[in-house]
Amino acid sequence: MRKKLIAGNWKMNKDIHETATLVEQLKNSITPTIQNSNTPVDILICPPFTSLVIAKMMIKEVPLKLGAQNMSQHEEGAYTGEVSAKMLKSIGCDYVILGHSERRQYFKETNELINAKSKQALKHGLTPIICVGETLEEREAGVTEDIIKTQVKGVLSEMTSDEVAKCVIAYEPVWAIGTGKTATPEQANQVHQFIRKLVGQLYSWTVAEKLIIQYGGSMNDKNAAELLSQSDIDGGLIGGASLKADAFAAIVLAGMEVAKE
Ligand code: 13P
Repeated sequence: MRKKLIAGNWKMNKDIHETATLVEQLKNSITPTIQNSNTPVDILICPPFTSLVIAKMMIKEVPLKLGAQNMSQHEEGAYTGEVSAKMLKSIGCDYVILGHSERRQYFKETNELINAKSKQALKHGLTPIICVGETLEEREAGVTEDIIKTQVKGVLSEMTSDEVAKCVIAYEPVWAIGTGKTATPEQANQVHQFIRKLVGQLYSWTVAEKLIIQYGGSMNDKNAAELLSQSDIDGGLIGGASLKADAFAAIVLAGMEVAKE
């Protein structure tokens, strides 16, 4: 069975002081849940770069993992303002979110660039959480599967099966991000199944069956249980609700309940 991965993408929120407060609150709300249950759910927080070190120091004793929200495709050198995979690894990150739709939209990230970043992350032992998703216009035009296919093929291009097995894919319909509009559990699951089948065709069914595919887009404490109980939804990539300790803890709990069933 695939282990659920519940991840908070804090986006450009929380300075170092606010991070300390939120992590403390998260520890208080999540740790009792984890201790009272032996159901395996991976829990991840992805604060901004400037908060990674303090967050890492604060989560040492608790089963929370750390991830970044972006990184460079380059190894090192004259790339002013960039942060490398090696730097993230050295401060204790295990994951990095890549190709989020906000980066695709505002920073013109392409599938090719996201593919290069993903390979670079894997080279340094970071798990890339690679985001894909269609816009509202694309969904309404009936081309969701074409868009997802191009994105998945592009971001996983020239990876070995072993490499693909180490990736996480996050399906985030752009129209559901920060809008309060969630894909219905059935709508989301359909796309997740499509992605899994595609990875099965491109690589192998063994890889596809193991692949963690998260859903992201207005997931919250109210809708998490239903989304997470779908056959092919292996976790959530949560924006707004991950900034509220109680809401995030409730989503974690929902993941645990589903995993127990
Ligand atoms: P919201 O949960 O705020 O819709 O954001 C989703 C997201 O973009 C996570 O990466």
